[in-house]
Amino acid sequence: MANNKVTKILGYGALAVVVVGGGAFLVLSHSKPGLPGEVGSAAALVSQGEYVARVADCGSCHTAINGKVYAGGLQIKSPIGAIYSSNITPDKEHGIGNYSLADFDRAVRQGVRKDGASLYPAMPYPSFARLSDQDITALYAYFMHGVDADASADKPEDIPWPLSMRWPLAMWRGLFGPEPANAAKSVVAADPIVARGEYLVTGPGHCGACHTPRGPALQERALDNRSPAFLAGGTVIDGWIVPSLRGEEDVGLGRWSVDDIATFLKTGRTNHAAVFGGMADVVAWSTQYASDADLHAVGAYLKTLQPGTPGSARFVADNATAKLLDAGQTQGNHGAEVYQQQCAICHQNDGGGVARMFPPLAGNPIVLSANSASLVNIILNGAALPPTPWAPSTVAMPAYRDTLSDKDIAAVTDFIRGAWGNKAGGTTSEAVVGTLRKDVTVGNNTVNNWTPMAPQPYGDGWTFAPQTHTGADAAQ
Ligand code: HEC
Ligand code: HEC
Ligand code: HEC
Repeated sequence: MANNKVTKILGYGALAVVVVGGGAFLVLSHSKPGLPGEVGSAAALVSQGEYVARVADCGSCHTAINGKVYAGGLQIKSPIGAIYSSNITPDKEHGIGNYSLADFDRAVRQGVRKDGASLYPAMPYPSFARLSDQDITALYAYFMHGVDADASADKPEDIPWPLSMRWPLAMWRGLFGPEPANAAKSVVAADPIVARGEYLVTGPGHCGACHTPRGPALQERALDNRSPAFLAGGTVIDGWIVPSLRGEEDVGLGRWSVDDIATFLKTGRTNHAAVFGGMADVVAWSTQYASDADLHAVGAYLKTLQPGTPGSARFVADNATAKLLDAGQTQGNHGAEVYQQQCAICHQNDGGGVARMFPPLAGNPIVLSANSASLVNIILNGAALPPTPWAPSTVAMPAYRDTLSDKDIAAVTDFIRGAWGNKAGGTTSEAVVGTLRKDVTVGNNTVNNWTPMAPQPYGDGWTFAPQTHTGADAAQ
């Protein structure tokens, strides 16, 4: 490892360089709940940084569809307009090649660009504020020395003036961006495995960016488990419902074991569920690369979260539907007819699916969610399980937009929401199916109900929606 590379990451309080027989070694003077190992060569630091970048999923946001890795340009929709991720390759003109470690730290943990402008919180710095000094140092080493420079220019945001002014973002940061010094002390779990999981989920993993509902200023309602809103789900991102990661038996992870959670994050599928929507990118770009120990730590931590909505009982297994379908008595029940003709071959008459191939629909949290948008979306557009080295199959859920009418889709949606003991409640209107059919990305992220001059553009339920790569390109 060349000495000039090492000197670039000098000048940071926590580091010292020791030169032993011509080779330079970095000594990290203290350790936070980051990765194990206090002493390592510069090359080891770069590879540690690569691991942190994977766990923090810098790649899926900072890579455009079919684009160069880390060269930016991915569109992220927000209620005020589209934002584009930046080029974070070490290119000196268009990337972050001129960022010092302190500049990089300020951007990642505090949301301030080198030129002093505040970043939109589509960059999840309120979570990254919790990154340990050690992980930030490793990330910086990786982005400076482990990533190829690319000269793609950043795309300006498509946000109309005056909302495009960045100074209000500084106020936002003051209100909602935690101070890194406090954040590093934020892990409260006593058990070391649970503590590692808490660090990964609340810090680099930024799971709350999607799984925690946002408040009126687009801030996550809680950044940790001090409030039951933390990871409580319920938001719609790009038309996909985000489930709760808390302990609810029906819409959360109450029936999942630690192993189930780890397997889902590693392979994208379990006996309970298969990945789709924004989560497919999370698995494809990030969690499949995490170590088994880290994925188990994440599972162990998530299993400590109490149910956010106790008392809801939206699933009580019941074999009446299976009997009805087995006997072929579906006349007069349009939803059951559609199910029998189109869906049962894979998802089975008992709604139990086929383990690791076709997810069960009985008791499935996605099917039980209050909002049926996700279901309608998956039926209209299909879904592909992302291939991972652990489960490299190409099983796909077919798209029914050309086969089924709005009426058929509304009927089969309500059928599966009430079959096999599912008690999702509510009905799906043909009009909603029609709207979702027109725009795959209709969630709550369009600029409906909002005019550019209104003083408060944000509202409850708004969120950021990054484009998803899975199925669209091979960059991951
Ligand atoms: C959920 C999407 C998302 C993730 C994950 C994400 N970023 Fe970002 N990042 C963005 C967006 C969007 C911007 C631009 C925001 C703006 O223009 O205000 C940005 C901006 C930045 C900038 C500022 C660059 C500049 O000069 O404009 C840096 C540095 C950065 N990100 C680094 C990272 C690193 C390192 C990671 C992983 C630890 C990461 N980001 C993960 C979305 C993301
Ligand atoms: C980009 C948004 C996004 C991020 C970030 C994200 N998720 Fe998800 N997650 C989703 C969506 C959407 C679903 C629903 C689709 C599915 O089940 O595949 C989901 C589903 C899940 C499920 C399945 C739950 C169920 O009941 O079916 C688990 C477990 C999960 N996420 C864990 C995590 C963890 C752990 C993290 C952080 C490391 C995380 N997610 C980060 C969007 C996200
Ligand atoms: C050829 C087999 C096949 C057929 C036919 C099929 N599906 Fe699927 N379905 C799948 C696969 C595979 C997945 C997992 C895809 C993914 O999540 O990426 C899936 C996922 C789903 C999910 C999401 C569940 C979850 O947890 O991921 C729902 C809901 C669903 N299908 C409903 C239906 C309905 C309704 C029909 C009939 C209109 C149908 N499917 C027909 C194979 C099929």
